Amino acid sequence: MISCGSLERSSNKLSAALLAWYDRHRRAMPWRALPGDTPDAYSVWLSEIMLQQTTVATVGPYFERFLTRWPKIESLAAADLDEVLHAWAGLGYYARARNLHKCAKIIATEHGGQFPDTEAELRKLPGIGPYTAAAVSAIAFGRKATVVDGNVERVIARLFAVTEPLPSSKKRLKKHAEALTPDVRCGDYAQATMDLGATVCTPFKPACGICPWRKACDGHLLGLAAELPKKSPKKERPTRYGTAFWLVALDGSVLLRRRPEMGLLGGMMEIPSSEWRDGAWQNEETDGAPLINANWQTVRGEVRHTFTHFSLKLRLLVARVEGKPDLGGVWCPPERFSDYALPTVMKKVVRLGLGSTMPR
Ligand code: ADE
Repeated sequence: MISCGSLERSSNKLSAALLAWYDRHRRAMPWRALPGDTPDAYSVWLSEIMLQQTTVATVGPYFERFLTRWPKIESLAAADLDEVLHAWAGLGYYARARNLHKCAKIIATEHGGQFPDTEAELRKLPGIGPYTAAAVSAIAFGRKATVVDGNVERVIARLFAVTEPLPSSKKRLKKHAEALTPDVRCGDYAQATMDLGATVCTPFKPACGICPWRKACDGHLLGLAAELPKKSPKKERPTRYGTAFWLVALDGSVLLRRRPEMGLLGGMMEIPSSEWRDGAWQNEETDGAPLINANWQTVRGEVRHTFTHFSLKLRLLVARVEGKPDLGGVWCPPERFSDYALPTVMKKVVRLGLGSTMPR
């Protein structure tokens, strides 16, 4: 069966229409080269890593700060990992920051400061998956690569009226997207598809009336655009539970500890906490001798934080201690907490700890 939009759907025609639209409506972004300028691979890579799972609006100031502080891949490679994690705090998914730093070192020491330009070579680097490899290859080097993020999946699902729900339709959407990818202006085309999804082919009220692809769009022609893409029902996020320990020395310093390198928030500083597990902790499990024997008191309230795969509820115990026993962490006055890379969940714990009334 021939679909309504397919007569209009020659890939050359579509890419030409989209590129003409992009030339007039492209979004200004701090990492984007101006028309006619050569893109800087370091900026493209840095922005694409930051944009994984994070919005364009949030990334802007982080990108500017990173680029001011570490203007070249060599300077980022020479930075201390702690400084990088610290500058990353608030962007979440800290494994990205560790991989960013690892990747910078590899590029600086093994590639003479130059990023490889093919998807296959880029994929070998830490933190670079299929999406980022395609984006850097196309945007930084103008190589033909199909860049598919959530915005592009929506555009393609509508263009071809794909009613199979995400995520099972991912492969099919990628195939359709590949068939449309032009041989010219590959970086502009990749960014144009993302911009189209972000500004015109939006999730709820797509502006089909101004879309350069409306005549070819089956979703629009069949009156289905706003309903697509369909999504399989999400599994509910499980809740995990933990207890954090706010231990204060007589001079007001608080014990901070580094989390293990591997695992969630690996290598970041924390207010020491128990394992985060599926079942709630009972008082008698933690109140005995957590960290150190002391007069532990439970603080009213709890910290809640949402991670990708679970929600966390942390209760907080507070105690004072004589001296500064060596408990495998650092004693830090609260006014110096900002010297450390504290993840957002731990900033919430700090707020609760600072607001608590300390036992005598
Ligand atoms: N999302 C991720 N990277 C992007 C880019 N270069 N342009 C537009 N949206 C994006």
